Amino acid sequence: MREITLSKRLSAAASLVRSGAICADIGTDHAYIPISLVSENRVTHAIASDVNEGPIRIAKENIKSCGLEDKITVTVANGLDGIEKYSPTDILICGMGGELIVKILNASEYIKKQGVRLILQPMTSVKELREYLKNGFNIIEEIIVLDSNKLYQIICAEYDGNKREYTDAELELGKINIAKKEPLFYELHKRLVEKRKKRLNGLMEGGYPTECVETEIKELESII
Ligand SMILES: C[S@@+](CC[C@H](N)C(=O)[O-])C[C@H]1O[C@@H](n2cnc3c(N)ncnc32)[C@H](O)[C@@H]1O
Repeated sequence: MREITLSKRLSAAASLVRSGAICADIGTDHAYIPISLVSENRVTHAIASDVNEGPIRIAKENIKSCGLEDKITVTVANGLDGIEKYSPTDILICGMGGELIVKILNASEYIKKQGVRLILQPMTSVKELREYLKNGFNIIEEIIVLDSNKLYQIICAEYDGNKREYTDAELELGKINIAKKEPLFYELHKRLVEKRKKRLNGLMEGGYPTECVETEIKELESII
């Protein structure tokens, strides 16, 4: 029987799924996460969902080659539409742009159900994703992972209805990541400061106001 080895990025996201959870992987594509979690008996059942027929076909082939058809439900759906049918406790949305993740979350009431955990890995717009989450979601864990020289942030959150305020640095880097200051945090921080300095240079060259970006850079430098 075929075995799947997860990339570092997917492995870090999968590590946040609780043992015994009913897990739903939205935008599953190849279904590697559900296959891995079920193969390792970390979850008893998983849902592999995608909006496109191509990925669904690949997911089904992979699941079949691993002999897991009876343990993984494959479904075609836009985002979280109809997900309540499966009562997932842990919902993964990985490898999509942050703005698309926000759109998917915003269209769902199910994610506000008590006991439901979100595991989110945006490819872009992590700040916009945290901006969305600050209105009612408690971020309970954050992971930074380096995979093929790219840094990814993974955010684990649960709804509690409370609104939170974050600084610019916290929105970009994550309050938990800032508190933990693990080795990869410094690299993430360095890359962000470089990005902001590039933006500052662009603004200066164009003769635009720079105060806002200068304040952001100062705030970023102060957290190290
Ligand atoms: C880049 S792949 C990521 C695959 C996998 N989750 C990963 O992280 O490696 C993005 C997947 O999301 C799917 N997708 C895009 N928009 C979606 C939506 N609104 N609802 C469900 N799936 C979606 C695409 O069809 C594609 O298979």
